[in-house]
Amino acid sequence: MSEKDISKTVIKRLPRYYRYLGELMDSKVERISSGELSERMHVTASQIRQDLNHFGGFGQQGYGYNVEYLYDEIGKILGLDKKHNMVIIGAGNLGQALANYGNFENRGFITKALFDENPELKGKKIRGIQVRSMSQLERYLKKEDIQIVALAIPKESAVVVAQRVVNCGVKAIWNFAHTDLNVPEDVVVENVHLSESLMRLSYNINRYELEHGIKKEEE
Ligand code: NAI
Repeated sequence: MSEKDISKTVIKRLPRYYRYLGELMDSKVERISSGELSERMHVTASQIRQDLNHFGGFGQQGYGYNVEYLYDEIGKILGLDKKHNMVIIGAGNLGQALANYGNFENRGFITKALFDENPELKGKKIRGIQVRSMSQLERYLKKEDIQIVALAIPKESAVVVAQRVVNCGVKAIWNFAHTDLNVPEDVVVENVHLSESLMRLSYNINRYELEHGIKKEEE
């Protein structure tokens, strides 16, 4: 089966497998059965077997999964065995927070520069990474080997800025702006919406309260 045929829901679960396997490696666990992995991850063992079978299984009857091997293989599927250079556009609260998070580098995502239209931010350094002016964007993207652009700018300007980025040949956008980007088919966009995640949390709080007969005082 080609990776194209694998459903998006399976792909969505892979980072979670990767994280758990990384934790097992940190704890020096060398092999694990689908049953044990299922208990840790709160996913059924058959789900785990089904998911991992998409990629050739990696498991052996009676032995379980070799943790390091599986970790490496999933890492390769996720493209984490390669380095990805990234640029962040928008050096406000969110852009700076992303740049300040050094752990992305451990996964191979290297933030090379930030860009912002605010002249007061030009030259500022966030964790040693320079904020550049938007007028340098095209030159920089064409000259440097940048694979990912993160958009941390208001939605009003995101579509236009995304177009500029795509025109420079960038094929991957990590979009935090609350708007859909109209990009060609060969450009991949990963939309991140923290507020949607909060809304799901709110739904689950509501459901829990309803199920347990918890009534909240009206404010
Ligand atoms: P902010 O106002 O602190 O920063 C925005 C920065 O973008 C400013 O420095 C501004 O100068 C710059 N900027 C504006 N237009 C630009 C352009 N055309 N080119 C280059 N730079 C430009 O805002 P904050 O809190 O950092 O949020 C940024 C964006 O991210 C907003 O659209 C916000 O709604 C969104 N956001 C999304 C989240 C999500 O989960 N998707 C979470 C938090 C914020």
